[in-house]
Amino acid sequence: MAMNWLKIVALLASLAIHVYADTPANCTYEDVRGKWVFMIGSKGHDRTLDCSAFDSPIMELQITLDFPNLAIDQFGNTGFWTLIYNQGFEVVINGEKYFAFSLYKKDGNNVTSICDQTFPGWSHDIFDRNWACFIGRKAEEQRPKQTVLLHEELRVESERFYRHNLEFIHQINQQQKSWQATRYLQFEKMRIEDMIKMKGGRKSTIASIPKPAPVTPEVSRMADTLPDNFDWRNYYGINYVSPIRNQGNCGSCYAFGSMAMNEARIRVRTNNTQTPIFSTQDIVECSEYSQGCDGGFPYLIGGKYAEDFGVVEEECNPYKGVDGKCSTKPSCERQYFTNYEYIGGFYGACNEELMRINLVKNGPIAVSFEVYDDFVHYKGGIYIHTGLRDKFNPFEITNHVVLVVGYGVEPVTGQKYWVVKNSWGEAWGEMGFFRIRRSTDECSIESIAVQVDPIL
Ligand SMILES: *[C@@H]1O[C@H](CO)[C@@H](O)[C@H](O)[C@H]1NC(C)=O
Ligand SMILES: *[C@@H]1O[C@H](CO)[C@@H](O)[C@H](O)[C@H]1NC(C)=O
Ligand SMILES: *[C@@H]1O[C@H](CO)[C@@H](O)[C@H](O)[C@H]1NC(C)=O
Repeated sequence: MAMNWLKIVALLASLAIHVYADTPANCTYEDVRGKWVFMIGSKGHDRTLDCSAFDSPIMELQITLDFPNLAIDQFGNTGFWTLIYNQGFEVVINGEKYFAFSLYKKDGNNVTSICDQTFPGWSHDIFDRNWACFIGRKAEEQRPKQTVLLHEELRVESERFYRHNLEFIHQINQQQKSWQATRYLQFEKMRIEDMIKMKGGRKSTIASIPKPAPVTPEVSRMADTLPDNFDWRNYYGINYVSPIRNQGNCGSCYAFGSMAMNEARIRVRTNNTQTPIFSTQDIVECSEYSQGCDGGFPYLIGGKYAEDFGVVEEECNPYKGVDGKCSTKPSCERQYFTNYEYIGGFYGACNEELMRINLVKNGPIAVSFEVYDDFVHYKGGIYIHTGLRDKFNPFEITNHVVLVVGYGVEPVTGQKYWVVKNSWGEAWGEMGFFRIRRSTDECSIESIAVQVDPIL
């Protein structure tokens, strides 16, 4: 045990300072599932605890993370766990929450995911008391996984300005009639690299996204009682969705998608008597649960950050769209949220029916989906990926966070769709929104939806 511990300290010391920057780790469910030892530091701290250089564990806990979301400690006590995309995991057991990012090493474009260990993470009880740092290590060592990030040539190429490929747009409109593509002049002011950020970040962090979970008869019956068309922008004539925003060329879609959910859910719960707009810059600058303009995840932001640290209103730290030191006014009141979870209870348990049930009952839900070349040209209609590639602009598939606000059925074609709020300004799409095919897990949009409840 002592030997292994020294090895971890040595490994951590050898890592670049980059430890909390965009995590290129690629740790899947099967990589993480198994028997872990959590090495935990002194308790009794508050949320200002800095775990970045943690190296002084004083106790150990053995936890087995089992199928599908069962956590069991060495005494036989049980709890829950969930993977968070391919980035890390959270465990809730014995009244305590543990969250850590999976360990990785980055050397130039070479990334080694060390999925049997974590960076220093945070633990605290379910009432946010008694914070401590911990490091997780699997009982049995696993082979590290190599990923090679984007080639250097493509990186250089991506420094040039985006230019429209009119032939590509024409092809999209020729090939299908479900949706229309257009040219957006505002994109021509952006570098390719910035557009990749706008779309959610680099492909290198794309995991094998789980397929939607099977639908139980009970869920199916419940979903059948829901209306055919539902839209939080017009619920008995009233809009519960906060205004469209523009993230600019910062990879902060996760902050916009998350806050859009948290804002709408406050509107729903208070019958629009409270209509706060939350600061996304606070998240970009101040959250250690995400990577600033390099990305993040709704589970950790609209959910965990909003529960552990709370969010503030826009004027407390207005949006700048760049990374920076935390400059949120300390005097600002913080709004808290709770009951955050992947819809279905854990990563991999989501499906279309559960999404609709949660949407109608609780309010809009944050989702991630895969963005292909054709999507940025969306003007209107029901988006279905065409499979066409833009030969002139070296895009990669990215993972973008947005907010599902409604669903419906197209009266003429019978096509089912979601209504989704984007964060690319009002000039994009259908007044800042888009519709996308529903019921077929289009671009994985029905796989990783997140919910949260406001504390009023
Ligand atoms: C990355 O890995 C490749 C082969 O796997 C190797 O040729 C290259 O030198 C490595 N680059 C760095 C910076 O380690
Ligand atoms: C991540 O790991 C999975 C399974 O090990 C693999 O299928 C996938 O290609 C990996 N992704 C990247 C970007 O390396
Ligand atoms: C909610 O707000 C609407 C519009 O302001 C109002 O007509 C309605 O009575 C309110 N509902 C409740 C339960 O207060």
